[in-house]
This record gives sequence, C-alpha cells and structure tokens, in this order.
Amino acid sequence: MRLLVTGSRGQLGLALQRAAAEAGHEFSGYDLPELDITNSAAVRGAVADARPDALINCAAYTAVDAAEADEARALAVNGAAVAGLAAAADEAGALLVQISTDFVFDGAATRPYREDDPPHPISAYGRTKLAGEHAARRAQRHLIVRTAWLFGDGANFVAAIRRQLDAGATELRVVGDQRGCPTYATDLAGAVIALLEAGTEGIVHAVNAGSASWREFAVEIVRQLGVAAEVVPISTADAARPAPRPAYSVLDASRFRGIVGADLPPWQDALARRLAAE
Ligand SMILES: NC(=O)c1ccc[n+]([C@@H]2O[C@H](COP(=O)([O-])OP(=O)(O)OC[C@H]3O[C@@H](n4cnc5c(N)ncnc54)[C@H](OP(=O)(O)O)[C@@H]3O)[C@@H](O)[C@H]2O)c1
Repeated sequence: MRLLVTGSRGQLGLALQRAAAEAGHEFSGYDLPELDITNSAAVRGAVADARPDALINCAAYTAVDAAEADEARALAVNGAAVAGLAAAADEAGALLVQISTDFVFDGAATRPYREDDPPHPISAYGRTKLAGEHAARRAQRHLIVRTAWLFGDGANFVAAIRRQLDAGATELRVVGDQRGCPTYATDLAGAVIALLEAGTEGIVHAVNAGSASWREFAVEIVRQLGVAAEVVPISTADAARPAPRPAYSVLDASRFRGIVGADLPPWQDALARRLAAE
C-alpha cells in the first residue's frame, strides 16, 4: 500500500514510518513546515502528487492545556483541516485515517467506552478532536482510530517522569484519580497498519491492553527503571491544570480484537520495550 502521513515527525508519525517499512508499505511523510494541514490547497497538491491508498492524519494540536485559551487555533488544526484532508482523500480515491482520542468522552462511565458510546468532551482539545471525527466522517472512505495516553519518541508522560528521576527526584507527585489506557506509539502504529491491511472502516479503539491511573503508570516506570523514588498520589484538583480531563477514559478494544484477532500487548510490556529502546 502507498501511505501518505501528515504529522509525520510526531510520536505516532515516526512510529508509523518504521511500521510501514517493516510491513513493506510505501511511506511518504509530511510535517510542519513543509506541509501545514490547515492549507487545504497544499494538502490537495500533496495528495494528488502522492496518489496514496491511505492518507493517515497524525498531525494535531495536541497541547491539551494550551487549547483551553487557544480553542480557535486548535479547532483549525484538529477540526477544519480534517475537512480539507477528507476532500483531498476523496479526490484521490484514498481512505482517510483520522487519529482521535479518549478525550472525546466525559469520563463519567463505569465500564470501558465502546465505539458507539455517545461522545461528550469536557475540554477544548476534546471538542476540537470530536469536530475532527465529524469532518473525517465526510470522507467517502474513512477510518477513525481512537487511542489514549500515547508514549513514543517526543514529549510524553514516560519522558517527563524519566526526566524528573534523572534530575534526582526521590518523590514524585502524580494524579491518582484519572484512569486510562497507556499506549505505546510503536504498538499503535502496528495496529493502524493491521487495520488498514484488514480493510477496516468506521471507528475503532486501539490501545494497549489494561488500564492504569497516572500514579500507577508512574509507579511502574519507577519500578522498571529500578529507581528508589516514592510516587505520592495527588488529586486532579490538586494538579490544577487548565483543561478538565475525563476521570475515567478506558477504551474498550473489543472491535479491534475482533478484526485483528488479538489485543495489543499489556501496557506494562509496552513500557518495558519503550524503556529498553531509549
Ligand atoms: N499524545 C497523546 O497522548 C494522544 C492521546 C490520544 C490521541 N492522540 C492523537 O494521536 C495523534 C498523534 O499524536 P502524537 O502524540 O503523535 O502527536 P505529536 O507528537 O504532538 O505530533 C503531532 C505532529 O503534528 C504536527 N503538526 C501540528 N500542527 C500541524 C499542522 N497545522 N500541519 C501539519 N502538522 C502539524 C506537529 O508539529 P509541531 O510539533 O511542530 O507542532 C507534530 O509533529 C493526534 O491526532 C493526537 O490527537 C494523542
């Protein structure tokens, strides 16, 4: 397959480049500054030149807290630009793959969210990503992959904890009352390729197996690194971040399992591979 990836130098884009090479697919990647997805004419030109089988949009305004004060910009990138990608995909006869997020849910659930549960975002970022889902659904052929709590190359929770430990921290204060699915960009990239190879369309949840609070995630990072540090739980209110976050955003990956035939590995296993890769 010929894959065109936008946001190709982000965490998922970089992992997709490796996964595509391993699976024998052709990959062309674009990121800022050479291709801004809000420039729909440039997007159309790039897609027409590459004639991809799938246009995979990994580009996003991912600064969840900054989006609260900058929702118009976040919406331009996460919502309006996706409409341009959908039009370009249709013109090229390509499948549009839009990466979305657990933050489209409000977190009030008491069991893992399924693909057909009604979204109800509580943050600006979540609202703009939901707008992106709506825009992606306008493409004749589309696949929306919702994922969560991503860690790979770049800025992410694992890197942030590691940086604090490397700086000699012996006590970390980490939110204990939000639960989600830590997910390794490498495993998500493999999941996207597997879904493409299976001809999947519609919405699919793809996350590493299991769930954790941020504190449990931090405890496991500390344990795997063999460092002596205490991880003290704090509440979401104590953390006082600008953007509200869902208290519970575990995603049900049954549809993924049904299509691909297996779950992604447990997040603890994924974390071990990530730490070994650094
Ligand atoms: N990270 C998470 O925890 C998480 C969780 C759930 C879902 N997701 C979704 O997963 C996808 C991939 O996330 P990620 O963590 O790989 O993101 P990332 O590391 O932030 O990468 C996003 C890439 O898109 C680029 N970009 C930003 N605005 C752009 C524009 N207007 N045109 C073209 N490129 C642009 C960024 O460039 P700059 O760095 O120069 O801005 C960056 O290289 C996103 O759709 C995100 O919403 C992420």
